[in-house]
Amino acid sequence: MGRVDGKVVLIIGATSGIGKATATLLAKEGAQVIFTGRRKEVGKKVEAEIAARGGQVEFFRCDATVEEECKALVDHVVEKYGRIDVLHNNAGVLIDADFLNIDLENNFDRTMNTNLKSQIAMMQLVLPVMLKQGKGSVINTASVGGIVAMPMNIPYSASKAATIHITHTLAKTYAKDGIRFNAICPGLTYSEMVEPGSDFDNAVLPGVPMRRGAQPEEMANGILFLASDDSSYITGQALVIDGGLSIA
Ligand SMILES: NC(=O)c1ccc[n+]([C@@H]2O[C@H](COP(=O)([O-])OP(=O)(O)OC[C@H]3O[C@@H](n4cnc5c(N)ncnc54)[C@H](OP(=O)(O)O)[C@@H]3O)[C@@H](O)[C@H]2O)c1
Repeated sequence: MGRVDGKVVLIIGATSGIGKATATLLAKEGAQVIFTGRRKEVGKKVEAEIAARGGQVEFFRCDATVEEECKALVDHVVEKYGRIDVLHNNAGVLIDADFLNIDLENNFDRTMNTNLKSQIAMMQLVLPVMLKQGKGSVINTASVGGIVAMPMNIPYSASKAATIHITHTLAKTYAKDGIRFNAICPGLTYSEMVEPGSDFDNAVLPGVPMRRGAQPEEMANGILFLASDDSSYITGQALVIDGGLSIA
């Protein structure tokens, strides 16, 4: 029996990296996974890969910054699967710039819209479904950048700090209704966002006590725990998975 057997899991932003690893693992652990992203061909390829391993999976193309598309997604999932047990808000972008060069529209607004506003919009859409069920687990992807200072990533870090704060607040508000809200805070993780040997990798890696970056699967293991009933008494936490980066 899988650790999330029979759960309906909606993952926002899973065509690559951490989201893809999470969709793959949760499907392997018995969930019905619905995942999104903007890239239709890539999404369909990931869907085929997971299905070929026996996973129950559906890709739904959706830009998480477009409200009508998010609404159509949730309507589709509820109509087709009847419930949403787990929402994993994972869509994100990282745009480097030192403080004086932050472009407010193309960096700050885009970062906030993708990393933060989309999470709020999705939670507003999914929460009524979970309230009706009297149960649900929401996992928001934050970052160690939301905890420690990262001079080249101020909008990004601000978006992730806000994610942690909103997660705390919603956890407190909806604990009595059976809905758990937790965040994960990945450290340096190799994906399309952060490639091995990139400037970002070279800048961050020396500060990682474990002396290596993570694979996306190492984040997926933490997300599986928060999605599963193994974490049934855990809410309002920000699970840091960073090889010790934030305590160094
Ligand atoms: N890699 C790291 O070191 C690291 C560290 C801390 C936190 N994180 C966080 O982890 C999450 C996943 O990042 P990753 O490292 O796995 O990077 P990634 O491989 O670039 O994955 C990002 C995912 O977000 C999706 N996405 C971006 N904008 C979207 C939008 N408007 N609508 C829907 N989906 C969207 C992308 O899909 P499409 O392109 O198909 O839309 C992709 O599936 C992000 O929230 C990131 O901030 C990463």
